[in-house]
Amino acid sequence: MKFLLDTHVWLWLQTHPERVSDDVRDQLGDGSAQLLLSAASSWEIAIKHALGKLPLPELLEMKRRGDKISVLTAYDAPAALLADQAGVELILVGDTAAMVMLGHESTIPVTLDEMIFLTRAVTRAARRPLVVGDLPFGTYEVSDEQAVASAIRMVKEGGADVVKLEGAGRMVSRVQAIADSNIGVMGHIGLTPQSATKLGGFKAQGRSADAAIKLFDDALALQEAGAFAIVLEAVPAAVAARISRALDVPTIGIGAGADTDGQVLVWHDLLGMYAGRQPRFVKRYAEIGEEIGGALASYAHDVRSGAFPEEQHTYAIPDEELARFEGKLRELRR
Ligand code: KIV
Repeated sequence: MKFLLDTHVWLWLQTHPERVSDDVRDQLGDGSAQLLLSAASSWEIAIKHALGKLPLPELLEMKRRGDKISVLTAYDAPAALLADQAGVELILVGDTAAMVMLGHESTIPVTLDEMIFLTRAVTRAARRPLVVGDLPFGTYEVSDEQAVASAIRMVKEGGADVVKLEGAGRMVSRVQAIADSNIGVMGHIGLTPQSATKLGGFKAQGRSADAAIKLFDDALALQEAGAFAIVLEAVPAAVAARISRALDVPTIGIGAGADTDGQVLVWHDLLGMYAGRQPRFVKRYAEIGEEIGGALASYAHDVRSGAFPEEQHTYAIPDEELARFEGKLRELRR
């Protein structure tokens, strides 16, 4: 019997045979089986190997295995490098950049050009994690065509591996249009900051049975439309757990409890670098803002007092060259 193998099945057979179901392994291991790999698979393997990039289908497999997916936002190359070294699966260049990087009071003002600029910096440094470029407000709401055009720019110019957009309802068709254009797209429901005014502020969502049912249906509709994962933001843990169980694609929670398939946090929140409002779901793993503040104050103090720079921070000139320099200045009457 001949079997044409999907790229990841072939890779697992070589590297992690335990990931292939017993049934499939038995059939393929049977001495009469002829295993075939398409030319496209060889290209895919060569390209992915060169980049070391996490294959998108691996996220589905992680969910099936019950392995949690870690996601972090990042907005520049040094942060992307650190996130990559930390082993996160996804880096989200979120439109939170508007607030934590660009000093706006909400995510609304950031433009597609600005998001592409930041995404470009992240994709230069991130090797293994998939980079998710967030489509900002006003770049996909008008029509499916607008959404596809924005997603294409994010991938072509920003170098994003996949994109994300907020909402369900009419946005389900945007997700479908982007997925149909062969661009991976992540959904985002619950508290969707781009529509915070309509939602009545930055509040938890899905706290009544009707609201929870709506979230549940929205999540299924996004999955049906082709979303490869869905962010659930500020949703009761029990509701997020129920949605996560019902979906085949992974859910990535932020303020949605421990039973989503992965978690995402904003770089500046996690590291204690953002002075603005801090939602209750944030866990601060460091106080880098304080550390930076202390270091800058010491620097300014040392400059004022003359304690910086010291001998080791300065370049010397040979004595005879210095004497010649002074002689020339005298000659030139300077
Ligand atoms: O823009 C962003 O950073 C996000 C996360 C909060 C999920 O959408």
